[in-house]
Amino acid sequence: MRVRPGVPDAAIRVLEEAGLESDIGPLDVTGADALLCLLTDRIDEGFLAAARHLRIVANMAVGTDNIDLAAASRLGIAVSNTPDVLTDATADLTFALLLAAARRLAWADRYVRGGGFVGWNPEVGIGLDVTGRTLGIIGAGRIGRAVAERARGFKMDVLLHSRSAGLPLDELLERSDFVSLHVPLSPATRHLIGAAEFARMKRSAVLVNTARGPIVDEAALVRALREGQIAAAGLDVFEHEPALAPGLRDLPQVVLAPHIGSATIATRARMAEVAARNIVAALRGEPIPNRVG
Ligand code: NAP
Ligand code: GLV
Repeated sequence: MRVRPGVPDAAIRVLEEAGLESDIGPLDVTGADALLCLLTDRIDEGFLAAARHLRIVANMAVGTDNIDLAAASRLGIAVSNTPDVLTDATADLTFALLLAAARRLAWADRYVRGGGFVGWNPEVGIGLDVTGRTLGIIGAGRIGRAVAERARGFKMDVLLHSRSAGLPLDELLERSDFVSLHVPLSPATRHLIGAAEFARMKRSAVLVNTARGPIVDEAALVRALREGQIAAAGLDVFEHEPALAPGLRDLPQVVLAPHIGSATIATRARMAEVAARNIVAALRGEPIPNRVG
């Protein structure tokens, strides 16, 4: 089987214990019966159709928008993901970005390093309150609800929106001081937040996105921040990752992170193990624990 470079050793250990041979290499599955891939691997119909022996694509991520699930299903290739094990790490990073954007932490770090801190000044570094404010969570699933749990520790009022529960999106946008995105990327969620949605948000609102970049119209976000339609943003994901929309990097009220929601040692090891266990089950003909397609 083919394992992509960067997958933690924990996966290889699980595969070896199951007596399976693996090799780490490029996105080429000629002759391979399984693929342990990354969210940056584009697994489209052409790739799947050419993979004559492939029985499972195990994504080391919970999001599977990089994989054509319909094509995999037509071709009889199973697809799995790694839910749950990354929920807390991603919720923690979401809250870190929320706090950092509200309290201007990235700006403050640059200010001190740049020699700007020459003494306490009551007018410098003024940010936004978090405690007691209203947090709107779009996508009330595993990570969205874990963020809501953290918000309760900050005495925040939490509003939820998803297709099956919570408030209508427009109402959530109008009432929230912080809006945090936790929906998967799909045709329905692409540009879910764009110019019309920014126009509904409070001018003091902060947008946090640790879901997927294309859920936000990034050019519209830059305009909304420049024009003061919203106050700040904390972003872990980008519309054309790793590129940033023109102007985004110049906005001091934005905190940027390089898609590190699940990036802790223990979480990444658990994701690798889960992905490998899905492969072991598929190749043994057993039910695949985290099958998504
Ligand atoms: P999840 O448990 O499946 O939650 C997704 C939620 O979104 C569900 O509550 C679903 O509820 C809602 N939803 C789906 N489509 C919707 C739509 N069109 N409109 C409104 N709500 C919608 O997924 P999760 O484990 O929380 O993960 C969420 C996403 O986070 C992943 O798909 C991934 O893209 C991202 N993620 C990013 C990182 C990172 O490193 N930054 C790490 C992990 C995950 P309904 O079905 O009721 O609508
Ligand atoms: C990370 O972005 C994931 O979907 O697991």
